[in-house]
Amino acid sequence: MTWQDDAGRDLVKSFGPRMAMFVRGEGSYLWDADGKRYLDFLAGIAVDSLGHAHPVFVDAVATQAATLSHVSNYFATPPQLALAATLKRLAGTGDAGRVYFGNSGAEANEAAFKLARLHGGSARPRILALKDAFHGRTMGTLALTGKPYMQEPFLPMTPGVEFIDSTVEALEEAIDDRVAALFVEPVKGEAGVLPLPAGYLTAAREITQRHGALLIVDEIQTGAGRTGAWFAFQHEGITPDAITVAKGIGGGFPIGALITFGEASELFYPGTHGSTFGGNPLGTAVAGAVLAEIERADLVRNAAERGAQLRAAIERIDSELIEGCRGAGLLMGVGLRHPVAKALVAAAGEHGLVINATNDDTIRLVPALTIGDVEIDEFVELFTAALRTVEDALVLDAPSGSSTGREVSA
Ligand SMILES: Cc1ncc(COP(=O)(O)O)c(C=O)c1O
Repeated sequence: MTWQDDAGRDLVKSFGPRMAMFVRGEGSYLWDADGKRYLDFLAGIAVDSLGHAHPVFVDAVATQAATLSHVSNYFATPPQLALAATLKRLAGTGDAGRVYFGNSGAEANEAAFKLARLHGGSARPRILALKDAFHGRTMGTLALTGKPYMQEPFLPMTPGVEFIDSTVEALEEAIDDRVAALFVEPVKGEAGVLPLPAGYLTAAREITQRHGALLIVDEIQTGAGRTGAWFAFQHEGITPDAITVAKGIGGGFPIGALITFGEASELFYPGTHGSTFGGNPLGTAVAGAVLAEIERADLVRNAAERGAQLRAAIERIDSELIEGCRGAGLLMGVGLRHPVAKALVAAAGEHGLVINATNDDTIRLVPALTIGDVEIDEFVELFTAALRTVEDALVLDAPSGSSTGREVSA
């Protein structure tokens, strides 16, 4: 029996076949069960901000586990209060901000959905969200996710959510005083790493304010420095009513949070929301240590600089497959001219590089925020090799006399 047999028999079928079995990680590298080394430019889907087995992460887990792991939300703990204060400071909420802790991105967005309902009451039953944006897989967050094919098997959805195009005009047209909130994903990751149009957040802030609706920014993938700012909304200098964070703030420890600003901070009252595990001292101590290391090592700046460096390096690769790069900082999408993203991911794996396809023609790169010259040079080498493998397959598959190959299936 192989591990593939075990996985095929024992694990839920909602995920496709696992591409490898990893047994160890260090920095930006992973090792599989056969001892093969991989350069990891996925980082657990934008989660492992400090890379794998970073000493700060390891020490925080070990020290807090040996001190106090969990006591429930009937009680306060020092790591929880410290992390709430840190998140408020980094998000710029001022004193009026508050933090709700959960254990994942979806839980953070569930809390945000409830926040919107508390704000809206019966007078504001409408919620606006963006077509193609991704907010999670739970029933509430699926209702916020503007992807009909994801919702379809699970209909009916929680009512009230309407999807609009990501343009200021579409928002102006859709909004009225019966809207409780607008949800936005500032860079649509799952949709192909598509940033919102420049100025959209600024306009959305003004328009939602004018109509008394909350502006809720999903920073689950973009937060914790990934785009070259602590949070993507800060690139436009706006103040939202709430943001949701997860992924990178825990650096590999499951944690999520809703951070509220101003009056939105007064909407929850006792009994309206909760979580057994959310905000426990173990998770909050680890996230606190991860954020402190991101600050100490200036990794937000590193994300901006290395993102630009990586982008320039990719644009120098001589490959007719590459259309161009998009995204911000170390949240990068590489657009492809042919629908070969899955084949490219497979070829990259063969060459010892972990990357991800968000759709048929986009590769998502979300490496650890710690990457430097060595990782970028090695990435270019391995990615170029994977591109050559796919290009060769395209040429082999192309009908004779044709210059464009047909789709290579993964
Ligand atoms: C923008 C965004 N929102 C929400 C989620 C859901 O987070 P989780 O998978 O932790 O529930 C994700 C996860 O990919 C995400 O990228």
